[in-house]
Amino acid sequence: MKKVVVLTGAGISAESGIKTFRDADGLWEGHDVMQVATPEGWAQNPELVLEFYNQRRRQLHEVQPNEGHKALVHLEEKYDVTIVTQNVDNLHEKAGSSRVIHLHGELLKVRSTRHPELVYDWPGDLRSGDLCEKGHQLRPHIVWFGEMVPMMDVAMEEARKADIFMVIGTSLLVYPAAGLIHYAPSHSRKYLIDPKPSDVSGVSDLVTLAKTATEGVPHVVRELLGNQLSL
Ligand code: OAD
Repeated sequence: MKKVVVLTGAGISAESGIKTFRDADGLWEGHDVMQVATPEGWAQNPELVLEFYNQRRRQLHEVQPNEGHKALVHLEEKYDVTIVTQNVDNLHEKAGSSRVIHLHGELLKVRSTRHPELVYDWPGDLRSGDLCEKGHQLRPHIVWFGEMVPMMDVAMEEARKADIFMVIGTSLLVYPAAGLIHYAPSHSRKYLIDPKPSDVSGVSDLVTLAKTATEGVPHVVRELLGNQLSL
């Protein structure tokens, strides 16, 4: 089976109703990113950070995967598919994708501030005073700016084995995720699907589709499945 590695960003979830980061006005759902997505912001005002992610978590229970997420599930009928997502939502899993690597963490998980290996499923609100089993405050399981990206090594290994590499709905501005495409073999076919595609120079065999995820992803998936599917 040929291997497809897919890098997704906020754009794939936009048509499900989750705002992207950089399409608005530099704010993320009305907040300064430095206040809600950095260790410094957490140290300064943990209540604000907790409430911010509580809101995001609540929103997640109300949104559904779209035709872009769903098309990637169909791809598994003929390909070995790994999704590497920068998104902290769970819409790939909700759609039914079997292998999803979250580079920037997951909204529905929390972890200990003192023992990062203690990670818990957390579907509801997180409050100050919620502790890990060793008695330390829990925090959102999100990779904030300035923090390590522990899943990057796994993602790079996957990219190196790709026969086909797809990039969907990302501005490709945040590293190391943005560099992943450069680990795909030069002979592998690459697709970039984004209504405002970023300039990806130095990448061979690249097909760019300036389309939204719900148009562009089913289109490419249909092509890869030999037009056998009525998506
Ligand atoms: P961005 O907000 O930077 O980029 C969103 C991309 O989605 C842009 O290229 C848009 O053109 C595209 N887009 C918008 N609507 C779309 C649609 N309907 N279909 C397809 N694409 C669409 O989001 P990311 O690139 O994901 O990190 O941002 C990367 C990281 O920066 C995020 O993971 C987050 C943020 O800070 C952390 O939280 C650690």
